[in-house]
Amino acid sequence: MLAITTVATLLVASTLSSASPTPLSPSTIPQRRSASVINFHRNTVQADNKVFNAEAARKERLRVKAKYGTINDRVQAASHSTKRALKTVAKPFDIKSKRAGGEGKDPLVDVFNSIDVLYFGPLSVGTPPQETNVDFDTGSSDLVVPLSNCQGNCTAPLFDSSKSTTFKRSNTPFSIQYQDGSGANGTVATDAVTVAGLTVAKQAFGAVDTEFGGFSGPNAGLLGLGFPDNAVSNSKPFFINLVESGGLASNLFSFFMSRGGADGSELCIGCVNSDKFSGDIDYHKLDPSATGGTQLYWNIPSSGFSYDGSQSTVTPTTSFNDTSITTRATGFSAVIDSGTSLIYVSTAAAEELYNQIPGASPAPKDVGDGFYTFPCDAPIGTVSFVFDGKPYAINPQDFNLGALQEGSSDCVGGILGEDLGDNLAIVGDEFMKNWYSVFDHDQLAVGFAKAN
Ligand SMILES: *[C@@H]1O[C@H](CO)[C@@H](O)[C@H](O)[C@H]1NC(C)=O
Ligand SMILES: *[C@@H]1O[C@H](CO)[C@@H](O)[C@H](O)[C@H]1NC(C)=O
Ligand SMILES: *[C@@H]1O[C@H](CO)[C@@H](O)[C@H](O)[C@H]1NC(C)=O
Repeated sequence: MLAITTVATLLVASTLSSASPTPLSPSTIPQRRSASVINFHRNTVQADNKVFNAEAARKERLRVKAKYGTINDRVQAASHSTKRALKTVAKPFDIKSKRAGGEGKDPLVDVFNSIDVLYFGPLSVGTPPQETNVDFDTGSSDLVVPLSNCQGNCTAPLFDSSKSTTFKRSNTPFSIQYQDGSGANGTVATDAVTVAGLTVAKQAFGAVDTEFGGFSGPNAGLLGLGFPDNAVSNSKPFFINLVESGGLASNLFSFFMSRGGADGSELCIGCVNSDKFSGDIDYHKLDPSATGGTQLYWNIPSSGFSYDGSQSTVTPTTSFNDTSITTRATGFSAVIDSGTSLIYVSTAAAEELYNQIPGASPAPKDVGDGFYTFPCDAPIGTVSFVFDGKPYAINPQDFNLGALQEGSSDCVGGILGEDLGDNLAIVGDEFMKNWYSVFDHDQLAVGFAKAN
């Protein structure tokens, strides 16, 4: 058994209306065996000879900084007394589910390059529908679709808007720019968009004409599954339109992420797929207080880590200067982000975690700030995130990103220190591979069950 103290309760009491979160069990969610704490065996990484993909990690770190670095602006914009009006069109949605229940499963491709870099799947745009594919990203809120005239290294399939009878382009500029110099420019447009048989007739998106600095990956576009106030396009996100249409079987979506490029990864919209998990789904209420009371992300409070059973509490470094924002006594707010590969916590939290891991030390500077290494041949224990007092373990094989270089005896840890403001932690695929994750819009909660 892991010994967990009740730091989380203090945190929850100060930020949420209910100090003891009520277990949420919508009737549509199958309940199986009761949850049990997982005990992974100690392992060493040499077993699978993984080598750290420094380039992928460097690139992702810069993107995460850009994605969450603008949080101060977003919160300030959103907390103005007159909230900005989201652009709506006369008939913004018209759900036409091919399945009676208003739910659908989108198979995802796991892009593996030493780390599970991203998970993408099919989406279609236009009338008649043209299929492309997108990275499904719970950490952002815009749909980004490259057009067939797209300049730069735009990844196909590109959307030929001239062949769609329902495409409408506005002259509102759309621009995304990351700190690594990559980005995409275009304008906001609307058209019919379908994912997993679920259609929004007039979905706003960034219609992209220019990509630069290596914006694209193996996927063509991006579908943000976050909240409206975080939308760069100032438009309602696809999933929110589905919810407001009233046509979904359940107002939630769920991710299953496989490892190492294996098949079986899936996004279930309006549903949970009980083939993909075991035990109960335990829900954790979202934490809008972390972002000035405005829900931007799927973020939940965490009291910190446990490492092999010892509870760690972290002292926050708060870089956010708006006095209206609650300053936490401990812990952090964890954004569950399907569009991020690794896990980012404050530099103070990372230091505290790695202090507990034998032989760990900050990685050489050329690896990048915030990374830590530990001896590959030393057995490492299990790191867990603690949510509402319950530890959620990360398989050491996911935590261990591989040897620093070919033949190196040092291995790189998959949790890194990055101060993103207001003590946010970004919890990506490395965690979600272990835990089937349900994003529940009615309950405003994220649920986890042990992934199969
Ligand atoms: C396109 O990709 C090539 C090769 O990866 C690279 O050299 C070039 O700079 C890229 N161009 C743009 C506009 O990103
Ligand atoms: C993209 O748009 C931004 C904002 O309008 C602009 O500053 C930038 O120069 C544009 N970049 C390219 C490559 O078109
Ligand atoms: C916050 O305020 C302090 C003191 O006024 C200042 O030193 C610091 O640079 C500010 N931080 C940010 C992120 O603006």
